[in-house]
Parts: sequence; C-alpha cells; structure tokens
Amino acid sequence: MVKPLRKAVLPVAGLGTRFLPATKAMPKEMLPVVDKPLIQYAVDEARAAGIDQFCMVTGRGKTALIDHFDIAFELEATLAERSKREALELLREEAMPPGSITTVRQQVPLGLGHAIWCARSFIGDDPFAILLPDDLVLSKTPCTAQLAKVYNETGGNVVAVSEVPREHTNRYGILKVGETHGDIVEVTGLVEKPKPEDAPSNLSIIGRYVLLPEVVKYLSQMERGAGNEVQLTDAMAKMIGHTPFHGLKFEGKRFDCGDKIGFLEAQIAFSLARPDLGPAVREFLKNYVNA
Ligand code: G1P
Repeated sequence: MVKPLRKAVLPVAGLGTRFLPATKAMPKEMLPVVDKPLIQYAVDEARAAGIDQFCMVTGRGKTALIDHFDIAFELEATLAERSKREALELLREEAMPPGSITTVRQQVPLGLGHAIWCARSFIGDDPFAILLPDDLVLSKTPCTAQLAKVYNETGGNVVAVSEVPREHTNRYGILKVGETHGDIVEVTGLVEKPKPEDAPSNLSIIGRYVLLPEVVKYLSQMERGAGNEVQLTDAMAKMIGHTPFHGLKFEGKRFDCGDKIGFLEAQIAFSLARPDLGPAVREFLKNYVNA
C-alpha cells in the first residue's frame, strides 16, 4: 500500500521582478487570472487531488498570500449586512479548514531546491506534491490529480512533462527517457536547464511534482547547480535508481504565468473556458484579431 498523498509545498518566495511595477507592493502569486489569484489556482488544484495540508515557502513581503487564505471577517460581515449572498457564498466555499496552511520562510534566495528543503519539517516522512504557482494548467482533470493517480499506481516520484522546442531546453529541467508506456515515461536521468546541444530530450518538467520524502536527504547536501542555485532537479536526479521515477505527459495545456506573454495567453484561455465569460470574450476578440 502506498502512503496517501495529503501534503503540498508551494514555493512562493520569488520576487516577481518580471512583473514590476505590478509586484512592487504585492506578491506575484496574487496576480489574478480572470478573477482568481495564481496561488488560489494552485491550492484549488491540490485540493481536487485530495491534498489537505499545505506549506507555503514564503519570503519577506508575502503576507498578502497568508491573509488571502484567512477569514476576511469585516468583509463577510459587510456582505451579510448588505445581503450580498452570492459573494458571501463564494468566500465561504473557498475557505480553508483551520490549521491546513503552514508557512516557512526562505530567508535567502538560494534556488528552488533550497526552498523545498526549507519545508523539510512539514514534509517529514510523507510523499508530497509541489505546485509552482507560476505554472497554470488548463485541463479536464486537474494536473495534480493526474499525477496522484500515477503515484498511487507506481508508489514513486512523478513529474508532469511536456515537449518544448529544442531551443528552449535551457529554460527547464529536462528528462532522459527510458521505456514509454502510453503517457507515462520512465525517467532515467534529469538535467537542469541544459543547452539544446546537450539536452537528452525535449521533454521538460513543468511546475507539478509528486515526490517521495527521500528527496530532502539529497537537498540537504546543498550542492550548487545551474545558475549557482540549489536545484530541485539535481536532488531528484539522485533518487533515480533508488525509487521509481516517471514523467507523465499530462492531459491539458500549461501556461507560464511568470512570463508576460504566457500570462496574457492564460487570461484569454481561462476566460474563454468560462461559461459566464467565454461567449463575450470570443466576440470582442474577433474585433482585435481582424483589425
Ligand atoms: C523551475 C525548475 C525547472 C522546471 C521549471 C518549470 O525552473 O527548476 O526544472 O522545468 O521550474 O516551470 P524556474 O522556472 O524556476 O527557473
């Protein structure tokens, strides 16, 4: 029996310099796609996979993220007084059970691997998901639930992967691939941000992982990798051969919301997918595209 997946780590310590000035006084993870902040997409996606314990790895200036998941008492009282039932219900539906979110601080920006290592007490001896809130996935089945299904079958590490153009391999963690069974590929090696000519494939990791707690042991070595940072990919690579490791060619489309074009595309794709907004957006977009 594999241990059930109940925990998720959300690294949210990044500065968001690519979105200045919007992110001068606001965490980048609070930027909304349509009407929901990026962080909320990540939490909702994890909850849809049965995850009920969260650890946000934060940094200075990130308190809005913690406030976002608290009860907004004054707001709720005012909405109740004014009989704004729909708005009130929306807030209550999304409320997190008490004690379900903890936070730790990454005091210095030493890389994604270091951020995950900061959550080591939270991880303990349990499997855990990682969701990078910059990466949004629009899919029929939430991406983390797709990974959880593979985890339940294999009992090992699973990362969401998608093909990228060769010239972009230096932006991602890239897989060396063994046997392939349908959408599931065996991972035989991992390299962080290789040059196109050195890349073992063009299958890239997107910001969704389900990992075994053993990864913490390798992160503790604090080895510096690409960009002189402690890379999660390098620690994961050290688990290959000891524990099962698979990549899942997930169903859905990933948007890189850490990039302006990706963020704008996400706004359009997510609003077109919404029954309440889609038809109107489709209609007005025609005017811009045909102009
Ligand atoms: C991180 C990971 C990388 C992964 C990417 C997905 O890179 O280090 O392996 O492919 O997220 O978005 P970053 O985007 O933080 O440079």
